[in-house]
Amino acid sequence: MAVSESQVHIRRARAADAAAVALLAGELAQSFAFSREKFELIYPQLVTAPDACLLLAVDGDQCLGYLLGFRHLTFYASGPVAWAEEVLVPSGHRGRGTGRALMTAFERWAAGHGCALVALATRRAAPFYRALGYEDSATYFRKVLR
Ligand SMILES: CC(C)(COP(=O)(O)OP(=O)(O)OC[C@H]1O[C@@H](n2cnc3c(N)ncnc32)[C@H](O)[C@@H]1OP(=O)(O)O)[C@@H](O)C(=O)NCCC(=O)NCCS
Repeated sequence: MAVSESQVHIRRARAADAAAVALLAGELAQSFAFSREKFELIYPQLVTAPDACLLLAVDGDQCLGYLLGFRHLTFYASGPVAWAEEVLVPSGHRGRGTGRALMTAFERWAAGHGCALVALATRRAAPFYRALGYEDSATYFRKVLR
């Protein structure tokens, strides 16, 4: 999968991208303290998991954003649906179409795997998703497990 918008190129993350993704993931983390130690264990699993999609927005050697999403089977959609779990473009690089390019690439991945929809929960970025054609559909509840 490869999508280009502006200067930014979207591609699947590889093992060698771990350090760059760790920097970005640490910036997104809010509800839970970011652990580099745990990241090192999780990263290789996510890069190879067939139901996971880890995308990077790159400009040359520079990493300008990432998206982590998943697909899973459901009864309600009679097949798979996709969820975007994490999307981040660093503050100095926003407003140039990078977030849109990441979501477009994820939608393409989801459609390619037969997903009926792409969904997500967001606290801070509703206007971004509305600009991309997403609609409010449900309220997000959670219970943090300690
Ligand atoms: C949300 C985020 C990924 C958007 O990335 P971005 O690269 O700045 O977004 P884009 O430049 O591709 O914007 C795409 C569209 O969304 C709109 N948009 C983006 N952020 C917006 C905002 N805060 N308010 C209103 N519109 C917004 C843009 O105007 C653009 O619309 P257009 O194409 O019609 O002109 C980025 O702001 C970010 O990483 N935020 C912090 C982390 C976060 O909230 N992640 C999402 C929830 S997990």
